[in-house]
Amino acid sequence: MRSGSPPDTFDPTRDPNPHLAFGRGAHFCIGAPLARLEGRVALNILLDRFPNLRSDPDRPPRFLPSLSMTGVRELPLLF
Ligand code: HEM
Repeated sequence: MRSGSPPDTFDPTRDPNPHLAFGRGAHFCIGAPLARLEGRVALNILLDRFPNLRSDPDRPPRFLPSLSMTGVRELPLLF
């Protein structure tokens, strides 16, 4: 399935958004609705408190040194 932006682009407006963060098929994450709700609540509170929150263009994110687990080790922010 094709969607607009490339997979390594952070695009919260991607639609459809066929990501694999919660797995797929028979073992699809049973907690996905709860995790999505918690994420929405947390991000709304964070952005209410810091409306100018943005990544620091001079300090790009650093990622975990792993081929099997994707994750951000450091995400410098400005607020
Ligand atoms: C951002 C948060 C979360 C992420 C990224 C995530 C990711 C995943 C992934 C990728 C799988 C599939 C693993 C596989 O295929 O072997 C999975 C399975 C599972 N997750 Fe989550 N999960 C999250 C939150 C939660 C929460 C909040 C719960 C429970 C309240 C939960 C419960 C489970 C369970 C029970 C399974 C096993 C489902 C099965 O094997 O049928 N997860 N999760």
